[in-house]
Amino acid sequence: MVNNLSKDLIFGVYGLDKMFGDLLASPSAIVIAGHPGSGKTTLASTICYANAVNGNKCLYISFQEGKERLFNVAKKLGLDMHSAESSGYLKFVKFPVTLAIDSIVSEISALITSYTPRIVVIDSINVLLDAVGKSLAKRAWLQNYFYELSNTINGLVILIAELPFGHETLDLGSLEFVADAIFILKHRIEKGFLVRYMEVRKARGALIMVSEFPFMIVEGAGFVLHPIEVPLTISPEGERLDIVCDSFKNSIGYVRRGEVIYVSHPPNARIFERREMPIYLLAFALKNNLRIFVLSFRYSAETLKNIFIEGIESLGIDSSKAKKAVEKHFSFMGINPFAISPSYYPYQLVRPLGAVDAIVFHGLETRYMSMSYRDYVARFFEVASRLKDEKVLDIVVASRISKKQYNTDASLSDIVVKVLLGKKGEIYARIWRKGGEPQLLTSETLVKCYDEMKKVLVDNI
Ligand SMILES: Nc1ncnc2c1ncn2[C@@H]1O[C@H](COP(=O)(O)OP(=O)(O)OP(=O)(O)O)[C@@H](O)[C@H]1O
Ligand SMILES: [Mg+2]
Repeated sequence: MVNNLSKDLIFGVYGLDKMFGDLLASPSAIVIAGHPGSGKTTLASTICYANAVNGNKCLYISFQEGKERLFNVAKKLGLDMHSAESSGYLKFVKFPVTLAIDSIVSEISALITSYTPRIVVIDSINVLLDAVGKSLAKRAWLQNYFYELSNTINGLVILIAELPFGHETLDLGSLEFVADAIFILKHRIEKGFLVRYMEVRKARGALIMVSEFPFMIVEGAGFVLHPIEVPLTISPEGERLDIVCDSFKNSIGYVRRGEVIYVSHPPNARIFERREMPIYLLAFALKNNLRIFVLSFRYSAETLKNIFIEGIESLGIDSSKAKKAVEKHFSFMGINPFAISPSYYPYQLVRPLGAVDAIVFHGLETRYMSMSYRDYVARFFEVASRLKDEKVLDIVVASRISKKQYNTDASLSDIVVKVLLGKKGEIYARIWRKGGEPQLLTSETLVKCYDEMKKVLVDNI
């Protein structure tokens, strides 16, 4: 009996749905294998929870962890298993490992008949395989049982398999052949950071060119995995956007979606704190009706949001209106650049937040300082190509800390805005489009531009 209101089955993890979502269109069995602590239970709970929320019943059978422990860990990751359970779409059952194999299987069958789940998780199958011992016939019978189970429930069977430390190979016999997908979770230490990977051994019907994907387990966000599909060819830019100030239009003409704009400023001219930047970004967002994501490597999301709101208020705009406009056009995130491995794309963190038209990377010089030069260039390029592919404007704002850093960033960007500090502390800039001549924006033209932005804000908020 399938719940009529139920939606299609999902993984509930952006990257997995994008790459392997088709797998779940028909009954399937997947194996999630991995070393101790690699995230098997977390991934299985995520899939179970996401479907329960969608109206598809999930039965989680555990031979290891108790319900409270698992639910508490899941809660910190943003999965409210308790409420899914009270809604009737999630059932957690802990089996004692001491039961004989036949009674385990008949109890599972009874549960499935009475509860009619569309997803069944077995955490883990090793306990069962150990229980059947060396009898090949019995092993085959068990494997066939779990494989057939996906047809019985017309849904998804998730079998968790433990890999002891030091072992890289599974020992699941024919299950490895009949499983529709095998995901192996791994972790290793790279340059002092813990890096988690998912290796895809097989995935029926999916076109995958990369078979190892970094993922994260993040407090509040759970299992985060995004496909690394850096496009092989460089995509063209998208449509033109209105850049608000006449002086900008006169010097660079236009900005297109998907371009990279590099704003480089002296360390002692903090343009974010000086309000010009928040005001300009809001005017730009209002003119083009954009949603902009601001990822800072220096400030927390709260601090950033306040800087923006205060900047808007400084124009004499009512505080609640300023807040509303900021919330409508921006979202913020603050990341400690020393806490994430160079292997992670900062982009991975941004993606779950939904569609955005532009991303501002603020304080990118800290990222430059925290990784090797080669890694930095590779990440910069990867993020830029990916955003270009999605037609998302990539705005990099960084302190000018060295010639090499400045030259690198500038050479990877389409438009460069080099902010300079005059003798009296006034700000002026040089701006150019790749291949074009740098144009001078005097402090007077910038003041005029500031007035134009102000007008856009006052008229539109
Ligand atoms: N709130 C959290 N924030 C960040 N990481 C967390 C959080 N909770 C758990 N983790 C990480 O998740 C990992 C454990 O995940 P999980 O229990 O899913 O692994 P497992 O593969 O099932 O392990 P086992 O083989 O012991 O059953 C831990 O290594 C821990 O670092
Ligand atoms: Mg586990």
